Amino acid sequence: MKRTDIVDLVGTEKVNVKVNAKGWVRTKRQSKNVAFIALNDGSTIRNLQVVADVAAIGEDVLSKINTGASVSVDGMLVESGGSGQANELQAESIEVLGVADPDVYPLQPKRHSLEFLREKAHLRFRTATFSAITRVRHAMIFGVHKFFNDRGFYNIHTPIITGSDAEGAGEMFRVSVLDPKSPPLDEQGNVDYTQDFFGKETNLTVSGQLEAELAALAMSKVYTFGPTFRAENSNTSRHLAEFWMIEPEVAFADINDNMDLAEDMLKYLVEYVLENCMEDLEFLNNRLKEEEKHKKEQDRSPMNLIERLEFVLAEKFERISYTEAIDVLRNSNYNKKKKFSFPIEGWGADLQSEHERYLVEKHYKKPVIITDYPKDIKAFYMKQNDDGKTVRAMDVLFPQIGEIIGGSQREEEYDKLLMRIEEMKIPKESMWWFIETRQFGTVPHSGFGLGFERLMLFVTGMGNIRDVIPFPRTPQNAEF
Ligand code: 4AD
Ligand code: MG
Repeated sequence: MKRTDIVDLVGTEKVNVKVNAKGWVRTKRQSKNVAFIALNDGSTIRNLQVVADVAAIGEDVLSKINTGASVSVDGMLVESGGSGQANELQAESIEVLGVADPDVYPLQPKRHSLEFLREKAHLRFRTATFSAITRVRHAMIFGVHKFFNDRGFYNIHTPIITGSDAEGAGEMFRVSVLDPKSPPLDEQGNVDYTQDFFGKETNLTVSGQLEAELAALAMSKVYTFGPTFRAENSNTSRHLAEFWMIEPEVAFADINDNMDLAEDMLKYLVEYVLENCMEDLEFLNNRLKEEEKHKKEQDRSPMNLIERLEFVLAEKFERISYTEAIDVLRNSNYNKKKKFSFPIEGWGADLQSEHERYLVEKHYKKPVIITDYPKDIKAFYMKQNDDGKTVRAMDVLFPQIGEIIGGSQREEEYDKLLMRIEEMKIPKESMWWFIETRQFGTVPHSGFGLGFERLMLFVTGMGNIRDVIPFPRTPQNAEF
């Protein structure tokens, strides 16, 4: 018989029909005469209850059915006698496709810690939490493409292997085929990359922005959505060495247009998840409530997950300059009482995530967009303001997360861009193509990068970025 997805069985009104379901056993309860098997195939957070008559199905079959086993069940779909509208499957025959020995199968029908499940990432999709996250992640990817497609943007695939460091932070993973034990050396004794695969030094990209700019300066509205790589040694709950970034780039757009686009996109995506993933969100909401019970009073969020999402939709994001942000932070009670690990002393320092979260969660109590940062803490490509000190940067800060988006208006003037590249000692030769666009038909343009996993943290209420990507890459960890 043809398999039906469990999502189409549990909710349907078409009952009293013969169906086949396949999936993995979440739990089994058995009494003398009857066994109840909760079956899941990933298509929904809900399990299909399979009811098996012990005499009819046979103890030899039922004894092989434990948590983790895979089975195929033929039977009659009927309305459940129990409360709730779920249907159940009365088994006529059960085939065990793959057993899971309960003495060694790592996932037992009990609460496992997220840390434990990270070590079992090859199996954690089989838990309710990770299957919910996987479905939400899929929906968000779809939502991103829909948002841009509906607005006339073109999706651009930008290179993964690159010879340039877009962010200029030098946090890149080298790509090389040279023999690490005896690489060819040049006359100065340095590794001779002209003999490497690409004839030059190459790395995994930290951002698709520079190439997206090239496309925007012809196609007007483009976006990339690709993997990006950062060799920064930040072992935090918000950093990955490999993460996915959404980077729109728009010609004829200034920093205000850029802020509008960022706010529209974030609200659209939050609305999208509320409209399309409510069952999974309700499950994640309850998971979070349980988790918060174990937290200290002051660490608990004042809102539940769904309230947080609705709250973002309701509020107009606060827009302030870096200088205003520093004033608020400097004069805050937190700063005076020395509650920040990095006290705010003066103008010019980068904001830490504790500062960002203070502004969002304690002061403005809504998402905040900060603009016009000191040029010395931002990348070379940002448009310079007339004050000579700041650039037209923008960071979007979210509750629980801190920075979720970083972007800017771009420096479109040839002389100013070149000056900045020289000041920052960026190798001009590797950027000739980028610089050249400012000589031929340059226009004002802007863009930003949304960290996809940071967005996933926000919409799922998970606390650690390692739990919102299937196989996280972090310092000392590239298992699976
Ligand atoms: O602020 P970032 O470094 O900006 C850029 O890369 C620009 N080229 C984007 C652009 O203008 N097109 O990174 C953008 C976002 C951050 O706001 C954050 O959400 C996310 O990417 N991000 C990370 N997410 C997970 N792990 C990391 N190590 C991240 N680093 C940045
Ligand atoms: Mg940033």
